[in-house]
Amino acid sequence: MIRTPADLRISIDSAGLERRIDELALVSEAPAPVVTRVLFSEADLRGRDYVRRAAREAGLAVREDAVGNIFARWEGSEPGLPAVGSGSHTDAIPNAGRYDGVVGVLGAFEALAALKRSGFKPRRSLEVVMFTSEEPTRFGLGCLGSRLMAGSISVEKAQALRDREGRSLDELRAAAGYKGPLSAVRLAPGTYHAFVELHIEQGPILDAGKIPIGIVEHIAGPSSYRVTLHGEGGHAGAVLMPVRHDAMLAGAEIALAVERAAKASGSPDTVGTVGVFRIEPGAVNSVPFRAYLEIDLRDARMDTRSKALAEIRSAAAEACAARGVRMEFEEINADPPADGDQETVAIAEQVCAELGLRSLRMVSRAYHDSLFMARVSPTTMIFIPCRNGWSHRPEEYASPEHIASGAEVLAHTMARLSA
Ligand code: GLV
Ligand code: MN
Ligand code: MN
Repeated sequence: MIRTPADLRISIDSAGLERRIDELALVSEAPAPVVTRVLFSEADLRGRDYVRRAAREAGLAVREDAVGNIFARWEGSEPGLPAVGSGSHTDAIPNAGRYDGVVGVLGAFEALAALKRSGFKPRRSLEVVMFTSEEPTRFGLGCLGSRLMAGSISVEKAQALRDREGRSLDELRAAAGYKGPLSAVRLAPGTYHAFVELHIEQGPILDAGKIPIGIVEHIAGPSSYRVTLHGEGGHAGAVLMPVRHDAMLAGAEIALAVERAAKASGSPDTVGTVGVFRIEPGAVNSVPFRAYLEIDLRDARMDTRSKALAEIRSAAAEACAARGVRMEFEEINADPPADGDQETVAIAEQVCAELGLRSLRMVSRAYHDSLFMARVSPTTMIFIPCRNGWSHRPEEYASPEHIASGAEVLAHTMARLSA
């Protein structure tokens, strides 16, 4: 029987959920209010302990896979059926806040705990996933756990990943206690009947419109590129301007070309960012002989993203030729956008209407593990407002009321999907 909010009495323990979010925020590589939990850092490992404990406290059975995705399951009355999934991540970029990802993991635990308290019995199993490394900080590639689950990255490519210190995924996961073949991470077809991720919006629309819930219909496709520029160094006083091959200045031209191409793409959803820009030797009295950039380019549309990329590449080649700088331009990832599943979107929307919560269908401009889950399962996301749209910074804030509403919508949506 499909339960309705009227006959399913769900009461989210908002205070308990807030306490857990606050406790996990203290598990960080940097002092509060900054949250930094980079994949397989000591803070990430302690965060994983916290997640396992919180899952068990919610009455869920915990298992982990070879890359460190953590699964917390409530077995349904027909455990052989594809499960209803939820979840997000708890790794955090340097200088992050406390809600990105965390709301979707701890909020989903609370949603299932509330369903248990209500006396609800799922037919399909309900499962929460804490995905490994949604953030790209360590390996330069986001959504590592969900990417492997969806089979969207080959095991060979994952094994070739190296962090800045040259350490491999295999080395780091083994040190964190994760062994076994990465090939086993891939989900069997039909593992999930549906997947619903709860997340802060990370943009200003819900907050500005005072709308408590967003329901994601599309997720913009991210891509990223690594550019290495080889110029010629020398003494900042002695190498005269006409004979310079300054790698940093070529990089600066490329960064400006990224901005220009994103603005001129013809789509309001094209965004381009140079978030990494390092130079060598990095001394005030030395001409930079090497520059290293990472470009993040996203769009809800593939055609305008491709056009922007072509323009960036040609402007970069031109700038480097003019400056006598050699360029290596390498794609890190180029993922297509994903569509939400219309039926799942409609169920979440119906739940909001019945709970008396206004909702808005939206595009997610940030990427999420749902980008990859959408390839293997009908998927949508439930967004809640965050103050001023701030995210990826310590001032990130979502109110307890909005978090509780998000968890309540998630609980009802998962309950219906599990029937
Ligand atoms: C995810 O954190 C993103 O960069 O969109
Ligand atoms: Mn993030
Ligand atoms: Mn996130």
